[in-house]
Formats: sequence, structure tokens, C-alpha cells
Amino acid sequence: MTNQLRVGPNTRVLVLTGAGVSAESGIPTFRASADGLWENHRIEDVASPEGFAKDPTMVWRFYSERRARAATVAPNPGHIALAKLQRDLGDRMMLVTQNVDGLHQRAGSDPVTEIHGGLYKTRCTHCEREPFEDHDLYMTEGDLPFCAECAAQNKTSLLRPHIVWFGEMLNAADLHRVTRFISNAEDLIFVAAGTSGAVYPVANLVYRAKNSGGRTVLVNADEVQNASGFQQWIRGKSGEILPTLFDIEPPV
Ligand code: OAD
Repeated sequence: MTNQLRVGPNTRVLVLTGAGVSAESGIPTFRASADGLWENHRIEDVASPEGFAKDPTMVWRFYSERRARAATVAPNPGHIALAKLQRDLGDRMMLVTQNVDGLHQRAGSDPVTEIHGGLYKTRCTHCEREPFEDHDLYMTEGDLPFCAECAAQNKTSLLRPHIVWFGEMLNAADLHRVTRFISNAEDLIFVAAGTSGAVYPVANLVYRAKNSGGRTVLVNADEVQNASGFQQWIRGKSGEILPTLFDIEPPV
């Protein structure tokens, strides 16, 4: 099959996923609607530190609804194929996702670099405590969560979703691990699946991969904004393409 990617004994595979990979599970993509709204909200209201400062109850309700919804859907064959690829390749495969829905983990992928944070993690708006796993739903003002560690020091600090909002930096250690994975590869395949290439710096990874001699492949239903970085575009649904995309050479 011409679209198959041959994975040799020294090949490293970096896969970047976006909202399109979860579309077949029933989670709407970000740029699905022409009106620029995200589930009927203006993006700046629900995905910026300013929006949170203005109305934390609304923002927490929004992410709580996303938590509740993501818990009701299941990983699709695209997620499952990537988990299998990681089992087959071990640390020769790195999975980086912009999705916060946890579906890669539920499909069995481990580790997953959640470059835009995670829906089921919460952190303090003030102290440096580690983000912690949290499946609770905060729907009303009375539900708003506060940091117990700050409270022990007589400080009142709101907790917030562990999501990278617009205007915020990505985790530097995550970015470093991704760029090191690229630069350490003798033979690299970079696959971006289900992402429109509209959000930086992640949309730049394809150029990094290409500049370091990697083969760059896009698996996407529609055209993307960083198309010039890709040598190949396999057009279609990730849940249909990913399960047969990789042809792994057996060890000699
Ligand atoms: P987008 O909604 O921008 O793009 C999803 C892409 O997936 C589009 O190009 C669709 O055509 C494509 N697509 C839809 N269904 C598909 C399918 N079944 N198979 C393959 N492709 C499909 O989502 P992202 O690129 O992930 O950031 O968005 C990037 C970031 O923008 C998100 O992580 C989020 C958002 O603002 C933060 O929350 C920080």
C-alpha cells in the first residue's frame, strides 16, 4: 500500500495529534464552526487567564461540562492504533497531543505528552504545587475550588483547570523533550494527525522535523494552515488511516 510508512529498526516516530483525532469519538473540533465559537462560547472568554479572572464560575462550569462529556465517549481506532504503535516501538515513538480529553491515555498510550495540558488536572492559581488529578465538576459559584495548601497558610487561592490558555507559555520541559527527540533521531518520521496547524508554537514542529531531515506526513480531513511543512498529505479520517499507516520492519 503506497500510503504506508515503513518503520525501520532505527526509525523514530513522532506523532502529534489534535482535535480531529477525537472527532470520531464524538468530541467536536475547535474550528468546526464558522462563527469562531467554541461550544457556544467566545474562545477568549473560556480559554484565557483574563476570561478566568473575570468569571471563574463560568469557566469552571465550561471545563466541568467538557470533563463530564469526555468521560462518556470512548477512544476510537485512531487512538487505539497509536497506543499499539507505542507498545511496538517503545521509546522510539513519542506521542504529543494538543488534546486535553484523555482519550489517548484511555486507549493505553503511555507516556503521553499533553502539550496543552489536561482536562482532568487542576492546579493552583498561586502556589507552585504540582497539578493534580481531578475529575470533580464545579458547576456553580458555591462549588468553586480553593487550594488546600494555600489555605493551610491562611491564603485564599482559587484552583484552575490545568489547560494552556491563549497568551500562556507551554511547559518548557515538554517542549525540550520533543525537540530532543527530533534532534536525536537519525531517521525520523513526523506524523501530524487531526490538527489544523493554526496554534503555535506546536504548528512549528513540522518545520523542525523537516529541517532535521525527517519525513513529514499529514493525516487530516481538510487543508491545514502549515501545509507547506508536509511532504505528504494523506487525506481522510484518522480513525480509518492510522490503523494501517505504519509498516514496522521486524528486528533482524
Ligand atoms: P482544530 O479544530 O483547529 O483542527 C482539527 C483538524 O482536524 C481540522 O483540520 C479538521 O479538518 C481535522 N479533522 C476533523 N475530523 C477529522 C478526522 N476524523 N480525521 C482527521 N482529521 C480530522 O483543532 P487543533 O488543531 O487540535 O488549544 O487545535 C489546536 C488548538 O487550538 C487546541 O489544542 C486548542 C485550540 O485553541 C488550546 O486549548 C490551548
